[in-house]
Amino acid sequence: MIKILKGCRTMTLKEKCLILQFSDLGDKRGKLVVIEGGKAIPFNIKRVFYIYESDSTVIRGQHANMESEFVLINVAGQSKVRVTDGREEYIVELNRPMMGVYIPKMIWKDMYDFSRDSVLLVLASTHYNGKEYIRNYEEYLKMMSKEEKVCE
Ligand code: TYD
Repeated sequence: MIKILKGCRTMTLKEKCLILQFSDLGDKRGKLVVIEGGKAIPFNIKRVFYIYESDSTVIRGQHANMESEFVLINVAGQSKVRVTDGREEYIVELNRPMMGVYIPKMIWKDMYDFSRDSVLLVLASTHYNGKEYIRNYEEYLKMMSKEEKVCE
């Protein structure tokens, strides 16, 4: 799951969870952003869902996925996503419809700080399967420490 680079270096979290900037095909009539699976994002899209009417007190996510890859985009308003691979952590502010963050498999994520007008669009590489979710952080850390040993 963790890609081992030459010299046995694991990728940094920022290398794994890429910030994506989408092109604007808009004109004087308004903005237009097009996201094609396998082109603007690194997987084919099998599922789309969106989260809205969450507020600043809510924390969503709180899980990692064994199979699914995601791209998160705030198409309206803003929110934050905190990602970790169990070693590093970083926070991405999703605040423009033209940017997103790619979240590969086995990354723990928390979405929070939703503005009142937040519409968080999620593109996923899989159909929904609750069994591929890891919702216990201790269990997640255990799984990740096993992965890391590949490189020791
Ligand atoms: P949950 O994973 O808790 O949402 P989030 O990650 O945004 O906090 O999902 C809430 C409920 O919706 C849960 O019962 C599972 C269901 N669900 C689906 O049926 N299909 C889906 O694609 C998603 C994301 C959730």
